[in-house]
Order: sequence, then structure tokens, then C-alpha cells
Amino acid sequence: MAHAPQLIIYDLDGVITDTAEFHFLAWKKLAEELGITFDRQFNEQLKGISRMDSLDRILALGESAASLSAEEKLELATRKNGYYLELIEEINPGHILPGIEALLDDNKQAGIKIALGSASKNAPHILDKLELSDYFDYIVDAAQVTKGKPDPETFTNAADALGIAYENCIGIEDAAAGVDAINSAGMFSVAVGEQAHLGHAHYRVDHTQDLVFQDIIERFHNQPKA
Ligand code: BG6
Ligand code: MG
Repeated sequence: MAHAPQLIIYDLDGVITDTAEFHFLAWKKLAEELGITFDRQFNEQLKGISRMDSLDRILALGESAASLSAEEKLELATRKNGYYLELIEEINPGHILPGIEALLDDNKQAGIKIALGSASKNAPHILDKLELSDYFDYIVDAAQVTKGKPDPETFTNAADALGIAYENCIGIEDAAAGVDAINSAGMFSVAVGEQAHLGHAHYRVDHTQDLVFQDIIERFHNQPKA
């Protein structure tokens, strides 16, 4: 039976808006306070990963990780979130990445459902600030999932809530862990960013303005049959 796309699930940070950069800057500030340095290459591993998992990966670069209590780790994660909240305070609709509003408009006009699949606890707040909440039929954020990306749960949750078969879903991501999650959900993966990190996506573009609705749908229909 021919498949037809019925739901597109969008990642937030790095796809809809450039908050991926703010996460990087906030983690870098915290890491420096702890005497830990990391670069953008390492940061690719943090994309799409939950707050506490990101902290664990950063602490593993230093020497003190094993000696920290759960309370101390929570304090560090909360401190990072404070830096992040300062950075996103001024966020507004002008911070929607190029091409994304046109993509959401075309998506909606085509009658295909729209969901958010984000690992961030700040996701609903950011969508509100971007004035995009009304586009979304369903929102999955960190509060709804027990297993974060690369586990497929973020994406399967959205499909289950809307009653749509996974093979009729498309996921859009900027993180390697996010593409893994979409692929293991049995959905069609679209990635935005570099080939070096995202070569495992079914379809990849360099920049958000290259995320064109008709192109995505065409690629979905032309995917090799299993
Ligand atoms: C993801 C980001 O969307 O959300 C990660 O890609 C981030 O970098 C994660 O760590 C958790 O975000 P928050 O806002 O709950 O700390
Ligand atoms: Mg992302």
C-alpha cells in the first residue's frame, strides 16, 4: 500500500530557531567555571540530548564527575539553565530561522498535521515567544518522555497521540541523536546541517531555507521501498 505523509514532527532547537547556539554558549560558560573546555565538534554530541545527559557528558571531560552528588549536579544543571534563560530572554518572532514559517504554512495548507518533538523543558515557552504555538497540533517536550533522543520515544509519542502510523511520519532534525531517533521510529528523517554529522538522514539540506515543503514530500515519496 502506498504511504502518504500525515504528520511532520519538528525539532525546535536548531531547526525552528537558533537556540542550539544559546545552549552551546550557556554550557560553555558553566564548563569554564568548572575548568573544563570543549569545542564545537564536541558540542555536536550534546545536540538533542537532555539537560542532565548533557551535563554528564561535559563532566566526563573533567576529573570531578565521579565525586559529585545528585544535588550538586542538579545545582549545575539549574545554573546552566539560568544562563540559557538569560540568553533567550529577548527571543521574538524575528528569531525564527529562514524558511521555517513558509514551511509551516505550506505544511498546514496541505492538511498534514504538525507536531513538535523537542528534548527541551523550555520548548513550550520558546514556541510562545516565537508566536508559533498555534501551528502545532501536538507538542512533545522533555516532560512527556522517559527516554530522550536517540531513543525514538519523542517521535513515536507524537504519532501515537495523533493516531498516525510511523511510516506516514516525517521528522526534521539538526542533531545526530535526533536523526537516530527518527530512523529507529521507522519514520522518514530530514536533517538540516553538515553531512559529517547528519549523513544518516534520509534527506539532508545545508540550511533551513533549503527546507522546502514540496521537496520534502517528493523525497518522502521517492524513498527506496524496504
Ligand atoms: C534540546 C537541545 O532540544 O534540548 C539540547 O538540542 C538541550 O542542547 C536539550 O540540552 C534540553 O534543553 P533544556 O531547555 O530542557 O535544558
Ligand atoms: Mg535540535
